[in-house]
Amino acid sequence: MGRFDLRVLAGALALTVFLLPDMGSAQLRQNYYATICPNVNVEKIVRDAVTKKFQQTFVTVPGTLRLFFHDCMVQGCDASAIIQSTPNNQAEKDYPDNLSLAGDGFDTVIKAKAAIDAIPSCRNKVSCADILTIATRDVINLAGGPSYAVELGRLDGLSSTAASVRGRLPQPTFNLDQLNALLNPLGLSQDDIIALSAAHSVGFSHCDKFSNRIYSFSPSNPVDPTLNKTYARDLQGMCPRNVDPRIAINMDPNTPKTFDNMYYKNLKQGKGLFTSDQILYTDPRSRPRVEAWAADNAAFQRAFVAAITKLGRIGVKTGKNGNIRRDCAAFN
Ligand code: HEM
Ligand SMILES: *[C@@H]1O[C@H](CO)[C@@H](O)[C@H](O)[C@H]1NC(C)=O
Ligand SMILES: *[C@@H]1O[C@H](CO)[C@@H](O)[C@H](O)[C@H]1NC(C)=O
Repeated sequence: MGRFDLRVLAGALALTVFLLPDMGSAQLRQNYYATICPNVNVEKIVRDAVTKKFQQTFVTVPGTLRLFFHDCMVQGCDASAIIQSTPNNQAEKDYPDNLSLAGDGFDTVIKAKAAIDAIPSCRNKVSCADILTIATRDVINLAGGPSYAVELGRLDGLSSTAASVRGRLPQPTFNLDQLNALLNPLGLSQDDIIALSAAHSVGFSHCDKFSNRIYSFSPSNPVDPTLNKTYARDLQGMCPRNVDPRIAINMDPNTPKTFDNMYYKNLKQGKGLFTSDQILYTDPRSRPRVEAWAADNAAFQRAFVAAITKLGRIGVKTGKNGNIRRDCAAFN
């Protein structure tokens, strides 16, 4: 092979490697709806609907944020998580493992969609997947977190099955290697995982999701030794053995309604609720990031924005692989 061919080959290879992590986002861009819904500020309409919902209940924040995460993890960010089950199809949201996605997250998207569709020139032109993406940015900001420009242009997915959820969601018992093994292939680095996990700075968890850590950790240590002893006792008080499975507690014991870097400060004190939270501080490979973001909220916010933007690029549907749903909860 001549010198010229080698250079062409090297160039092609470099280009391929360069483009690979970004494949899913080829069609996404900021201000996507400027030409599709001209003279209408789509993002403002969503923002107003989300703000109204937020004023009714704070659960709007964690409900929407977790719905976005789950949606992107299972078959990509395509609003497949919003689909309701029918007699013929058990949808993602009804995965038998009781995901307990908060109804207020679904309702936020439905309301924002209704507000957009009330404008004749915008009717059925904005995807539910994009509405969920915008609403997620807005709830983060309403809870005291950063605001940021969102990339848009996703279509809504054409399938949603409970079976497709299996193995796609990280478990609260995961260690750092397990988190990396599941999420790195989706384009999320270890730093992205550490940044995104701070979403647990707001919202609730049911007691059964961490009861192993306070009652049955190991034969010699019923309580996980990486848990703060005072916090472990508080958790045992709020979540007695055989507690009603519907009981849920704040994941951030200090500032449960603020989206902030308290999450990392809590980890430094042994107050990460799940193994998958606390491991970020216990494991020496991720601890330096936790230390840095516990000390610097602005640096945390920058990392979070970069990470959630990457999350929003996973498995985006375009062309024949999607459409614009008329009802976010049902296929057209
Ligand atoms: C990295 C591994 C993660 C694991 C193992 C995990 C696991 C969990 C679990 C077990 C719950 C409690 C659910 C319940 O009992 O109802 C929860 C709640 C929540 N998660 Fe995660 N999660 C992870 C990452 C994320 C990410 C990346 C986000 C968003 C960017 C997120 C957002 C939330 C929110 C907001 C809640 C509270 C939901 C509510 O109050 O309704 N999580 N998570
Ligand atoms: C699932 O969670 C909901 C809400 O917390 C609860 O009402 C229901 O009993 C749970 N179902 C199972 C099978 O655990
Ligand atoms: C455990 O929590 C208590 C009470 O919040 C706190 O004063 C203490 O410093 C924490 N312990 C450790 C080891 O961080």
